[in-house]
Amino acid sequence: MADYNYDVLVIGAGPGGYVAAIRAAQLGMKVACAEGRATLGGTCLNVGCIPSKALLHGSELFEEAHDGTLAKFGVKTGPVELDLGVMQGEKISAVKELTGGIEYLFKKNKVDWLKGYATFKDAHSVDVAGQTVTAKHIVIATGSSVMPLPGVAVDNDAGIIVDSTGALALDRVPSHMVVIGGGVIGLELGSVWRRLGAKVTVVEYLDQLLPGMDGEVRKDAAKIFKKQGMTLKLSTKVTGASVVGKTATLTLEPAAGGPAETLEADCVLVAIGRRPNTDGLGLANIGLELNARGQVETDHDFRTKIDGVWAIGDVVPGPMLAHKAEDEGIAVAENIAGLTGIVNHDVIPGVVYTTPEFAGVGLTEEAAKARGAIKVGKFPMLANSRAKTNREPDGFVKIIADAATDRVLGVWAIATVAGTMIAEAALAMEFGATSEDIAYTCHAHPTHSEAIKEAAMAVTGKPIHI
Ligand code: FAD
Ligand code: NAI
Repeated sequence: MADYNYDVLVIGAGPGGYVAAIRAAQLGMKVACAEGRATLGGTCLNVGCIPSKALLHGSELFEEAHDGTLAKFGVKTGPVELDLGVMQGEKISAVKELTGGIEYLFKKNKVDWLKGYATFKDAHSVDVAGQTVTAKHIVIATGSSVMPLPGVAVDNDAGIIVDSTGALALDRVPSHMVVIGGGVIGLELGSVWRRLGAKVTVVEYLDQLLPGMDGEVRKDAAKIFKKQGMTLKLSTKVTGASVVGKTATLTLEPAAGGPAETLEADCVLVAIGRRPNTDGLGLANIGLELNARGQVETDHDFRTKIDGVWAIGDVVPGPMLAHKAEDEGIAVAENIAGLTGIVNHDVIPGVVYTTPEFAGVGLTEEAAKARGAIKVGKFPMLANSRAKTNREPDGFVKIIADAATDRVLGVWAIATVAGTMIAEAALAMEFGATSEDIAYTCHAHPTHSEAIKEAAMAVTGKPIHI
């Protein structure tokens, strides 16, 4: 240790990096975390998970007051008006409280925040804001940023063609928002602005929304978002954009080729994915090469090929999710400390926080079938007493189990609280549960989670309420 300033230096203070730093400090190591952004928490807290959920929550309340949902339950309101400034203010407060919370946790755990962007000099030293800092172990947790779309230039300040960061900060409700990319960001932020009054058109390259999710979930997603008023242009690609005054004109073509058409909008959200952050990191100085997708490869312990250099989160392969990054942060710190840090990448839940929510963990039905014989149990939310009482008719739970062993391979849910429900499925899968284990577990009544129990009962053909 005497040779180094720190035992561990983490580069990046997103959910991967800040968690790694805190856990390493908890394990008795001397830790620093370099972060160039003005506040801690990375993409997730500053321009991702947290601000998007603040606007999803606010816009959901607005829609409920506006579309007659509250009135249906006997809650009389006067004329309902949107104060977008107040809604954005609530978002800013939540972000400030949470990013400030990480700063407090750093102080509490004696993690030094090195303010600036880090560049490797060699495998044990980096430059941060003109200073050279050395560490026995360096963890790359630099995250990801928006993938640009050639021919469609983003200008968040102008607010006409924006990325997710711009779409989270709009100071007006667009009259027509075109979302390029029917993935998680497009549908979450498209929902926000649709609820607040925008006409929303989603242009998706593939023939279905939400790539990576179960096929049936994806099909239902298209029906549900259409029913909510979104226009979907599937199997369509955007080939160019121009802005004149406050209007953008997009050129669209069928994904398979064919005649072009144009589409006008006063706001365009580009949400076609994210790419790992490695520019300026000086990886060439340590001889660390990227894979074909620009990611840093590691082994199961999160070690890169360079001794003493580790990597986690969005910058490494796998789903770009905050909870995956956090779990990898804990595991890498434990591995550095000589303990056994493991992340089960087969059981990482994914959730789209729209209304209803779309959630899943484990294999899709298609992937499970390709592996071998399966049994599937399905239960509609329409037959779940709580969802029915709350007037939340959309959705279902589906449990996919191995036909021979009954072990649960995947669980998919569409329900207003599917994101919360899916935690039970992840826990069951982590413990190697069978569908019978879930079916014979007592679930509180009346809860949405009873649909998971009923879907498990349906695997053997014996749900009660349908
Ligand atoms: P990041 O959070 O990207 O943090 C990396 C940090 O490293 C950044 O702060 C960056 O400034 C810093 N950095 C980069 N290079 C350097 C350097 N050289 N020196 C110092 N610092 C550096 N995921 C979910 O699970 N749930 C959600 O609801 C969700 N919602 C999202 C909504 C939006 C709009 C977006 C864009 C993303 C969302 N995500 C969500 C994804 C989630 O934000 C990421 O998966 C997560 O933040 C990845 O964590 P990370 O620590 O790997 O990287
Ligand atoms: P995504 O990968 O979820 O979706 C991008 C979509 O754009 C895909 O459906 C893709 O087929 C489509 N696409 C690609 N090129 C296109 C083109 N030229 N024209 C039209 N469509 C095109 O990526 P997204 O939504 O940008 O999100 C990035 C990451 O952020 C995701 O990987 C996700 O994990 C994470 N995220 C997670 C959230 C959550 O957990 N709730 C919320 C928001 C983001």
